[in-house]
Amino acid sequence: MHQDIDLKVLYFGTPVVLISTSNPDGTANLAPMSSAWWLGEQCMLGMNSGSQTTRNLLRERECTLNLPSADLAAAVDRLALLSGARELTPHKVEKGYRYEPDKFGTAGLTPGPADAVAAPVVVECPIQLECELVSSVPFDGGNRATAHTVRVLRAHVHEDLIVPGTAHIDPLRWNPLIMKFCEFFGGGEPVHTSRLARAWQIPEVAPAL
Ligand SMILES: Cc1cc2nc3c(=O)[nH]c(=O)nc-3n(C[C@H](O)[C@H](O)[C@H](O)COP(=O)(O)O)c2cc1C
Repeated sequence: MHQDIDLKVLYFGTPVVLISTSNPDGTANLAPMSSAWWLGEQCMLGMNSGSQTTRNLLRERECTLNLPSADLAAAVDRLALLSGARELTPHKVEKGYRYEPDKFGTAGLTPGPADAVAAPVVVECPIQLECELVSSVPFDGGNRATAHTVRVLRAHVHEDLIVPGTAHIDPLRWNPLIMKFCEFFGGGEPVHTSRLARAWQIPEVAPAL
């Protein structure tokens, strides 16, 4: 039997994306996000309007989207409560966020050069997409979230994931890190504890990892 329920979270399960953008001083910012979907060669990204990522995207009009496999959950979790923005909203401060200019170093991830954009790729991610910004529109009617459409310019995929002799990824070999109700999953199983879930006081039902 179904129950009528005022759901607190609608994050049913989407792949985590590490989005890299360039700061005004030329350094790189890196942020985890998961409100992302693809259609054709374009991707829609839902990002907080006050994030450093949105500011950088609107100014530089380019980014890299890096898809972590499930075994990178610990590195992603280290980025969970960080922002490249010096000024944080009271809401973010209350949730425990802090300013961090060296996101790659803090996560233990390696920046690598991209071909067509200035923002670096994440070397450890098996799938790296270089993108240009197509459009940005308010998502929620206010100014809390922005829907950015980006176009994929280049894709770099680890050879182990490619179906030999084709331009296709083998879905049996690709094990994406999934964010489901703010928890980290891989292959349908919980893979790591989530600082984001705890900050949002989401009830912990997964076994402690
Ligand atoms: C797994 C995960 C998924 C997230 N998904 C999103 C998202 O889809 N959109 C968003 O605005 N923030 C998302 N966040 C929160 C951002 O990472 C957070 O706002 C961060 O401070 C942004 O960094 P920046 O200010 O340096 O851009 C997510 C965080 C985690 C850990």
